Amino acid sequence: LASTDVDLAPIAEGSAVTVMWRGKPVFVRHRTAAEIEAARAEPLSGLKDPAADDSRVQQAPWLVVVGICTHLGCVPLGQRPTDARGDFGGWFCPCHGSHYDTSGRIRRGPAPTNLEVPSYTFTSDTAIRIG
Ligand code: FES
Repeated sequence: LASTDVDLAPIAEGSAVTVMWRGKPVFVRHRTAAEIEAARAEPLSGLKDPAADDSRVQQAPWLVVVGICTHLGCVPLGQRPTDARGDFGGWFCPCHGSHYDTSGRIRRGPAPTNLEVPSYTFTSDTAIRIG
């Protein structure tokens, strides 16, 4: 499918879903206030691939990223609350130990760049279309 529609209404704060788009997993996370605050508070000077959280999201609670580690392509852990999320509360790639934060930015480990934000649009207050 060229595009993938996601109903956000069932995704509770603090939880996430994985959908497929063009054969790739895409992570959609309904972030908590604390997760958003952590993402915004981080100075850009401390980031390997500097990007403000605001530049990576369209509506603050919703983070949408391609779920493929930018190192060698593993799928990072962190979608389930019981998963390891690494040292920065986002995702952890167990293949070689890349840690991503609550904005999906690379914070530690060999991955060179942040998790990719796909092209998407809000089609209503509670729905997005990826692609
Ligand atoms: Fe994720 Fe290497 S593929 S750290």
